[in-house]
Amino acid sequence: GMKHLIAPSILAADFANLQRDIEMLNQSEADWIHVDIMDGLFVPNISFGFPVVEAVNKYATKPLDVHLMITDPDRYLKNFADAGAAHITVHYEACTHLHRTIQAIKELGCKAGVALNPHTPVALLEDIIADVDLVLIMSVNPGFGGQKFIQNTYKKIEQLKTLSASQNPDLFIEVDGGVNIGNTPQLIQAGANALVAGNFVFSSGNPLATIKELKQI
Ligand code: DX5
Ligand code: ZN
Repeated sequence: GMKHLIAPSILAADFANLQRDIEMLNQSEADWIHVDIMDGLFVPNISFGFPVVEAVNKYATKPLDVHLMITDPDRYLKNFADAGAAHITVHYEACTHLHRTIQAIKELGCKAGVALNPHTPVALLEDIIADVDLVLIMSVNPGFGGQKFIQNTYKKIEQLKTLSASQNPDLFIEVDGGVNIGNTPQLIQAGANALVAGNFVFSSGNPLATIKELKQI
């Protein structure tokens, strides 16, 4: 299959040196830049909003992989597309009319993703999987970087891989939360083809080398 993609999360970057950190990612083997948006309602934390995404987009040379951890994301899809999102991922748990939301993201010219919280079964995607470009399996409860990886994730990725094989073989299977060099081999083995990493990259002494290590597994 295709080589797995690496998506460092700028939630763990130094916000006072964001241009420097984005330029580091531009030089790195990272494939996407993961952008975590938290509204203080869907998740118990607030991250940053449109002006920051625009500022990141001004310097980034790689696609912005925007992960919306927000209630009723339909309200803001156009704002994120205008701010430079290449991918927009919404939470299954935050969308009453997910099919409509996915079509709206595509109409804005973005790749459309759906994210699942750790308690949300993969089987619930059966009637939407053919319509999405990406599924994001949360391997922590969303809201914070630096949390411990949940082991049940491997099983969910395997289930998703089976579902995608029959209905959407080009699907991006992305995993997010607590990803590190220790669990990456098993995640790829299970079927993940896009890995988000925040603290493991930005808290390492040498983020460029850490990204390279994750990419070369
Ligand atoms: C968690 C976010 C993650 C987070 C990952 O709510 O969705 O993208 O930034 O950070 P680490 O890799 O530190 O768990
Ligand atoms: Zn994320």
